[in-house]
Amino acid sequence: MSKSDWSADAYSRHARFVSELGAPVVALLDPQPGERILDVGCGDGVLTRELMERGCTAVGIDSSPSMVRAARERGVDARLLDAGSLAFVSCFDAVFSNAALHWMKDADAVINGVARALKPGGRFVAEMGGCGNVAALRRALREHLPRFGIDAVAIDPWYFPDVEEYASRLRAGGFAVRWIGLLPRPTRLPTGVSGWITAIARPFLAPLSGVQRRQLLAAMERELAPVLSNNENELYADYVRLRFLAVKSPES
Ligand code: BEZ
Repeated sequence: MSKSDWSADAYSRHARFVSELGAPVVALLDPQPGERILDVGCGDGVLTRELMERGCTAVGIDSSPSMVRAARERGVDARLLDAGSLAFVSCFDAVFSNAALHWMKDADAVINGVARALKPGGRFVAEMGGCGNVAALRRALREHLPRFGIDAVAIDPWYFPDVEEYASRLRAGGFAVRWIGLLPRPTRLPTGVSGWITAIARPFLAPLSGVQRRQLLAAMERELAPVLSNNENELYADYVRLRFLAVKSPES
């Protein structure tokens, strides 16, 4: 299973917080009326739509047909495209991405495509999972899945880099890094550990039968609910964000 198998509906029920928490990265982008902006991994288009409402011309791309459909229903110019092989050339003032780049393990292919898509001096502004992101959930998945004969490391779909690694990739891709930081952001899981796994950690469930899925979800809920709960019994995951603003060098 890949991200392209996502259901926009399940995502909206269990993970609406992903776009709701995108405000700081939109603020860092500081979109200006009339700008042409590419949203990489636009999902169901909530933030792309916000860029449009601020007077930008926005194009969203996503590898999930369900997400692209949902974004189009919002009136977004959403296209079913792989961010690892972008074919746009010097046509955007800015490239924006929220909570998507960590699904793209070939980071250099994405960065090179973004650089090509930007006009000289264009901005690349993004937030993604960074080093240590959802460590407790990821560790528990890696511990439980071998009981079902699954090599969790081999099917782990995520790339959570640290500042130095991603900054050096950006520089190698022709960007000047204006700001980059790793930001811990404990994040409420409104539908519990099971809801989060079902909506977001789906690739780990793909090799399991229905019965095995229920067993895994129950075991993870039992183990992690006490660890991730606060005093009010609300669950928080240990999200860590990598946020950056980079500018395409005028000569590249
Ligand atoms: C995130 O947006 O931080 C995230 C996405 C997928 C898995 C884990 C975390």
